[in-house]
Amino acid sequence: MNVQHIAIIMDGNGRWAAQRKRPRTWGHKAGVKAVKSTLKACVQSGISHLTLFAFSSENWRRPQSEVKRLMTLFLQSLEKESPELLQQGVAIRFIGDLSAFSEKLQIKMQEVSALQPEDKRLTLHVAVNYGGRWDIVQAAKQLASMHQQGTLDLSDIDESLFNRHTCLSQQPPIDLLIRTGGEQRISNFLLWQCAYTELFFIDTLWPDFDEKVLQSVLVDYNKRERRFGQTSDQLNA
Ligand code: FPP
Repeated sequence: MNVQHIAIIMDGNGRWAAQRKRPRTWGHKAGVKAVKSTLKACVQSGISHLTLFAFSSENWRRPQSEVKRLMTLFLQSLEKESPELLQQGVAIRFIGDLSAFSEKLQIKMQEVSALQPEDKRLTLHVAVNYGGRWDIVQAAKQLASMHQQGTLDLSDIDESLFNRHTCLSQQPPIDLLIRTGGEQRISNFLLWQCAYTELFFIDTLWPDFDEKVLQSVLVDYNKRERRFGQTSDQLNA
């Protein structure tokens, strides 16, 4: 099956660091390396879209010192890695409520989003201060506001219109969602977008995720039958 779009919940950085008796931030740094190698592996496999859950709307509840270090790491990673990624054909975009970040980080995200590779091979969508419920609510607010202004009739609201106001609506549907780190939950990631996505919960901690692990997930994915509500007989007819 042709895979266009993969989403990943990158979990397990803290445990990876703890196993090595290092601070959690060390795990996040190793997580950035895993992001780089995953991007390469996706480009090589012809996957055109990758959406990564880098910071959820709930992650602000972590200890302030960890949040601060994560923000510094985001900024440094964008500064350091974006030129090379651009050369590799990677366009970087962001989803989430970006207004909560420092002005410096917001400016950097705007700058990086404006960069367009000459030969685009993959779009990386980084979800930051993102929550699936937030996404649905912001779409509902947009429609409510259009209705209030008299530009939208209630009878025109359907799934297709609603979808157009959610994040990633212009992108191919998400074929598979991978969560590393062994937990089996979605944690308020792409709730609307993953209605028919194939889910993979794997024990590998995010810093250990590499091309080999990705390939094994893809092999597994190819064994699945995506029925979208139909029966197996209908699909094979
Ligand atoms: C979850 O692991 C990971 C995060 C909340 C941060 C993810 C960030 C990165 C991988 C680095 C930056 C990425 C980009 C795109 C610049 P955890 O800390 O919850 O691990 P644990 O469950 O073992 O504690």
